[in-house]
Parts: sequence; structure tokens; C-alpha cells
Amino acid sequence: MGHDWIAILDFGSQYSQLIARRVREQQVYCELLRYDTPAAKLAARQPRGIILSGGPASVFDPQAPQGDPALFDLDVPVLGICYGLQLMAHQLHGRVKPGQAREYGHALIEVVAAGSLFRGLPTRLPVWMSHGDQVEQMPAGFRVLAQTPTCPVAAMEHPGKRWVGLQFHPEVVHTPQGTDLLRRFLFDLCGCAGDWKMSRFIAEQTAAIRAQVGRDHVLCGLSGGVDSSVVAALLHQAIGRQLHCVFVDNGLLRHGEARQVEDTFGQAFGLDLQIARSGDLFLQRLHGVTDPEQKRKIIGRTFIDVFADAARKFGEVKYLAQGTLYPDVIESASPIGGPSATIKSHHNVGGLPLDMKFALIEPLRELFKDEVRVLGHELGLPDYIVHRQPFPGPGMAVRILGAVTPERVALVQQADLRVQEEVQSLPNYRDIWQAFAVLLPIQTVGVMGDERTYDHVIAIRAVQSLDGMTADWFKLPYETLERISSRIINEVRGINRVVFDISSKPPSTIEWE
Ligand code: XMP
Repeated sequence: MGHDWIAILDFGSQYSQLIARRVREQQVYCELLRYDTPAAKLAARQPRGIILSGGPASVFDPQAPQGDPALFDLDVPVLGICYGLQLMAHQLHGRVKPGQAREYGHALIEVVAAGSLFRGLPTRLPVWMSHGDQVEQMPAGFRVLAQTPTCPVAAMEHPGKRWVGLQFHPEVVHTPQGTDLLRRFLFDLCGCAGDWKMSRFIAEQTAAIRAQVGRDHVLCGLSGGVDSSVVAALLHQAIGRQLHCVFVDNGLLRHGEARQVEDTFGQAFGLDLQIARSGDLFLQRLHGVTDPEQKRKIIGRTFIDVFADAARKFGEVKYLAQGTLYPDVIESASPIGGPSATIKSHHNVGGLPLDMKFALIEPLRELFKDEVRVLGHELGLPDYIVHRQPFPGPGMAVRILGAVTPERVALVQQADLRVQEEVQSLPNYRDIWQAFAVLLPIQTVGVMGDERTYDHVIAIRAVQSLDGMTADWFKLPYETLERISSRIINEVRGINRVVFDISSKPPSTIEWE
């Protein structure tokens, strides 16, 4: 790509992705790369600057991840953050002191010299510290920019070389001026233009896709979720009717979802769309199965069967398009491992029959979720798709505890519809990661009119989360809970009790299964 970019070397900090987002928020393209990416490889792609992320290691560990020391010969500005700063000090022959205690949390730094980073900022700044070791003696040519009573080198700079280091984290919200500091680095030191825009991404990607695909055909599994919808819209813009989409209606979707997908993609976009209505087959194969893992396996296999059948109808297809996002790519490339990308592997159409071999097209693999939503908007997708909550591949089957029958699917769909309608009217709806109904495998006693009832229980789950890996239960207003409860009990026959799940993840999961 022929525009400015920043290389972020990932030393395993939990904040590495956040650094990347902050940089992109400034409309500067960046990539998160392995900490040991060779300097020569970087030089070949001419980054405007290099950021060394934080990380959990200590430079004194024999195992500590080291960057290529030749980075400092590239004549490119470098910003070291936390471990990145210590490594910079260490590799450039300064002295790092092993920490007695970890300093963790809010701190106030005093700016002693503005240098290139603190120009125009107050002389005292609240920051977020998280470190054990600290720099005791700076390498030759550096000067201190900021300090705290316990940390003599909270920020340092080598003015001639354009190397800067911060002991604290500018990328987190607890460092309110962090964005200003990053901007000084990106624009003043690196000279980035800040012109990386979604429209530009679309133009570049559509050209690249056309060049790659030529006259061949591309298959895309449309799930109705944000990622696959955006992939389909982007490919449609690039190659029109050379794109063929399959939507598997497994009968376990949210109420009205299949029709929405058909309306949006089939009708409005005019996409070549096959809707494989296969609810009966799925339910047949799920008959009598209550074990959650077994349900997942059956659904996975059935999905492959149905998808492959539908896809064959398109004839010769060379490519398969997938909505792989950047976090999936970097999670699998991260040096420190980290939580594996199992979530997305559910999405992927792995295990297709052997006669169906595809080359992959993954046009979103450089984007974060929020960027995918912006892209979706630019491509003309409606809000209800662009801001859709995640929905598990096995659908309602993981929200029906116990046997999956047509009646129980209808119960949970109807209950869920009420949950959706109520939460969507909240002003902070977009802060909710997921909100949904779960059908429990028990019945309880109730009373309706003069009659005793013995009916089903619905649990409401609502969570906030950044990535689904951890989550906190969402504090829905009592009035909303009340309306959800009374609507479900009054409007959905067969439900006489509604409860609210107040557990966080971990130790609970988001789905009940
Ligand atoms: P759990 O229940 O493990 O879920 O806390 C974490 C997130 O992943 C979603 N999820 C899935 N997504 N296919 C998917 O595409 C699946 O099989 C699947 N199972 C869980 C879940 O909805 C939550 O957002």
C-alpha cells in the first residue's frame, strides 16, 4: 500500500491492539507485527515510524522478547511504551533497574522538558502506569521529559534520532492526554498525513479484489452478522454477479432474521443469493439431543452439508470469501499466545467436502470491528445490520437448554423478540454487547387468572464486553426489565416466569448452552 503507515511491534501487552486502534483513530494506517520482525523487512516497507508496545516481560528475563537492534539504524522515529521504553534503554546501552514493587495505576507526572511530545500540554499530567522495572540511566543522547517521585524517567527523548519513550500508557483512557502524545509522535515526529479513510480503503480493496479474482467466481457464506454482511457488500461492489452468496436458514435464527437478509441482500442489493431453508433437517438431526457439545457438532456438520449442497448449484467457483478480522489475524500471530481465536473458527466454513477446494479472500483482515461498521455504513448497509449484536453460529440451539423442538424454538424466538424490541429503544443500546432470552429446561408453578399454571422459565442475559472474552452483566434499567418480563409473560404463551442473569464472565460464559 502506498500510504503512510506505522509499524507496531507487539511485545505482548494486553494493550497492543488498543495502540493500533488509537493510531487508526488518527487516520494513520498501522499494523501490529511480531516483536522480532527483522528491521530489514520493515525497512523494505518504509514505515513512517515504529512503536514498541508494552509487555509483561522484564528485560532481565533470559527469555525476554527482544526487538531487532538494527531497528535503531533505520533512521525512523521510534516510540517505546512501557516495556518498549525499557527495551529501548536496554538495547541502546542505558541501564534498567529491576523493580522492587510493581507500580500500577494512576500517577501524576511532572513534565520537566516539553521536547517533541509535551509541547503545549500542561506541566502536570495524570497518566496510567503499569510497570515493575524502570530506567535508571538513559542511553547516550537522551534527556528526561517527565518524571514522578518514584519514577525518574517517566518520559525520555533522543532529539536528534527522534526516539521517544513513555513509561506509562498513552493508549488507555486513564491517560487523558494520551491521544495528544500519540498525535505529537504520529504527526510531528513521523510526519504522517492522517489521510487514511474508509473511502480510500474501499477503492483500494475493490481494485485489489478485481485484480485477484479476474473472471473467476467467489462464494460467500452470509450469516446475517456484521462481518459476513460487510464482506458480501464489499465484494458485490467489486465484482457484482461474480459473487454468489449462500445463506443457511437453519431454523434456529432470531425471529424475522431470514427475511431481513433476503430483503437487504436479495432485494435491495440484487445479490446472487441462495437461501437454503433447512430448518426441518436441522431439527430432525437435533431430535432428542440435549448435550450442548453434541448439539454443536450436529449443527456444524449439518451446516457444512447444507452449505456445500447450495454452493454446488453455482457451478465452478474458485474463491471463498471470509469475514476474518484483524484481531483474529493478530491473535493467531501473537508471540505470547493469548486467548486463542476460537470464536471466529466457529464462523469459518472448515470441513467442507474434499472436492470443494477454495482459495481464500479475506478483505477485512486489516480492520477492527468498529472500522468494519464504518465500512458497512459507507457501503450502504442498513443500521440494523451494521450495529447487529453478535449471534452464535448454532443460534437458538445454545439458548435452549435441553431438547430442541419446534415448539421450544418458537418460545425462545418470541421471548427474544420482546427482549430485542425493548433494549433497542434504550438510548445506550449500542453499549450492550448482547441481550437475549434463554429458555430453561424447567417448568415452574404460576397463577394466571384463577388458574394454576405449570410453564416454562425464560432467563434474560444482557452483557457488556469489548470482545466477548470477558463480560460484565449489563445494568438494564428496572423499567426495561419490568416491561420485558411483563410482555413475555403476557404475550408469549407457555412462559410464566422471567429471571435476570447477573453473572459476569468469567466465571460464567455469555451463552448458557
Ligand atoms: P461464550 O458463551 O463462550 O461466548 O461466553 C462468547 C461470545 O461468542 C459467541 N459465540 C459464538 N459465536 N459461533 C459464533 O460465531 C459460535 O458457535 C459461538 N458460541 C458463542 C457468544 O454469542 C458470545 O458473543
